[in-house]
Amino acid sequence: PRRRPPPPRSPPPAEAPAPAPAEAPAPARRSAEDVMDVVLEIVHVRTGYPLDMLDPELDLEADLSIDSIKRVEIIGALADRIGLPQDPGGSAESAVEELSRIKTLRAIVDWVIAHAPGAPTAEPQPAALAPAPLPTTPPVTRLRVDLCPVPPADGDPASLDGLRIGIVEDDQGLASALADALEALGAEPQTLQEAGAGTGTGTGTGTGTGLDGIVDLSSLRAGTEPVLPEVFPGLRDALTGGVPRLLLVAASGGPGGAGLHGFARSAALEFPAALVRAVDVHPKEDPERVAARLVRELATDGPDGPASVGYTLDGARAVRRPVLAALPAADGPGPRPAVLDPGSVVLLTGGARGITARTALALARATGCHIELLGRTPRPPAAEDEFGQAQDRVALRAALIASGVRRPAEIETAASRILAEREVRTTLTALATVAASVRYHCADVTDERAVRAVVADVRERHGRLDGIVHGAGILRDGLLRDKRPADFAEVFTTKVAGARHLAAAAAEHGAWPAPRFLALFGSVAGVYGNRGQSDYAAANDALDGLAHAWAQSFPGRVLSVDWGPWAAEAGGMVTPELERAYARRGVPLLPPDAGTSAFLDELARGTDVQVVLMAQAAAEDGGDE
Ligand SMILES: NC(=O)c1ccc[n+]([C@@H]2O[C@H](COP(=O)([O-])OP(=O)(O)OC[C@H]3O[C@@H](n4cnc5c(N)ncnc54)[C@H](OP(=O)(O)O)[C@@H]3O)[C@@H](O)[C@H]2O)c1
Repeated sequence: PRRRPPPPRSPPPAEAPAPAPAEAPAPARRSAEDVMDVVLEIVHVRTGYPLDMLDPELDLEADLSIDSIKRVEIIGALADRIGLPQDPGGSAESAVEELSRIKTLRAIVDWVIAHAPGAPTAEPQPAALAPAPLPTTPPVTRLRVDLCPVPPADGDPASLDGLRIGIVEDDQGLASALADALEALGAEPQTLQEAGAGTGTGTGTGTGTGLDGIVDLSSLRAGTEPVLPEVFPGLRDALTGGVPRLLLVAASGGPGGAGLHGFARSAALEFPAALVRAVDVHPKEDPERVAARLVRELATDGPDGPASVGYTLDGARAVRRPVLAALPAADGPGPRPAVLDPGSVVLLTGGARGITARTALALARATGCHIELLGRTPRPPAAEDEFGQAQDRVALRAALIASGVRRPAEIETAASRILAEREVRTTLTALATVAASVRYHCADVTDERAVRAVVADVRERHGRLDGIVHGAGILRDGLLRDKRPADFAEVFTTKVAGARHLAAAAAEHGAWPAPRFLALFGSVAGVYGNRGQSDYAAANDALDGLAHAWAQSFPGRVLSVDWGPWAAEAGGMVTPELERAYARRGVPLLPPDAGTSAFLDELARGTDVQVVLMAQAAAEDGGDE
């Protein structure tokens, strides 16, 4: 498997997709009808949909809101009940992954039947998937992400002789220097419009480009916009089309390459046989010298080595690596030094829900400040909804169905709206008792004008805006081969365009007092990469990169916090299903109070631009990849 720098504790937790169950029992021969009965019953129990509404042809994700995590759980339950087919040479894990990509109940049943070997098997062992007890509340581990020197790339440039290498132009002279260097080695460089050009299909199911490698220099073109998400379809097509080497080149500190390293870290995990690597080069470096370094990176034999490297101006090769870094000790046991006071005003995007709502409450409790929240959910009506007894989505589905709503799409939309409104209402009620004031703005953070309008409104009403927390984010998990460009773009822009709009509006403070901090909520997925989260990892990595760049010019402190997963009770992206999946893997989760307290400490005493905050693994047994 690909080697990458081991994290200092447990393997990187990230907030999706769920892992496959451990040992699944071998399958028994069953009829399609039997298997369908079992599948329907499992889905009924786990979703609240009555059996008569579970049309085997419905799309699990689109029609029934059964996301990849829940699908893995359902398939895990199926494995408990009937055992999963195991391909010779394959694993129960790959069977679960394959099954979880299937779209309908009918297709799941067909797959199980088609793959079932004849032999009857031992009885299944339900214990295989029983949720493990959650690790006990762990303290928070704090890491700083340092640039650590690594040995030069060990590839032999002569090995590129005869290989066909596509180069996506930078329009700055590096492409031609690279083409010359490759030609001198006997390779055949060829200019590409974009990485996916030549994959034949442009649909993500390319059947081969005929290229032995691609070096994408497009992020070096002059411009201030990140090339993601635009270049995503081409990168996906190149990888799914079978390109065995893909280098994504970025200028260190430049906005063009924002997110490419997080993308590469995830893509490398999804394509373990390929060489996928993001390479930062120094923008002022001589093109011939950069070309020589890229040749060595490209000539690396096989996929081993880091998915993300960088070069300094003096040619040193380095990787970004999280290292343990405790906060400077507090001066005595008293309260934290005050970054905010009761007159301060903090704007939190995504702050009416999930872990950012927890953060808003903690900030208000600690300082009594004014809180301004921004989210897309319309401001909820004051009165509680009529389904108060139905506490969770499963119960709410049943209640909505009982009230006469019959179409799954309507049920899902209504359930999501009711749950979101409840969460916003609960947050506003709780904040009303601890904050100097609270106001909710219904706005989309990707809408630049809307963000500017909210920031202006806050300043006009309060005469100041002291802190911004950008917590808005969404997930659209799925492996690269299945990932739709629209989903990638939505995940990426919510974080990245949102952050850029906020940073710009906050920095232009004019006669108002300057903001004291801009905090961006990122994720360990950006730091380590994660299968199924190339979009989310790219977005969070982009936030880290932008934070480092803005730290030079923003009028207050810029801080990017790469969170490990929080416990489901925080109400955020970690659902109870995902929490159970983490528990099975022994991944500890951040208790909400520990998370908010770590954030307040970070604001009060930290000086780093980028930190990783995650629950500490119970056993300190070093990296265990
Ligand atoms: N929970 C975790 O374990 C965890 C771990 C690592 C990182 N994080 C990060 O922490 C942040 C919050 O996550 P969470 O777990 O609390 O997730 P969550 O419960 O899903 O909250 C996401 C928030 O973002 C808002 N939002 C989404 N798109 C938006 C848009 N276009 N404009 C404005 N608001 C938008 C949502 O409100 P509306 O739907 O009303 O718009 C919601 O308030 C995210 O950035 C996430 O990446 C969380």
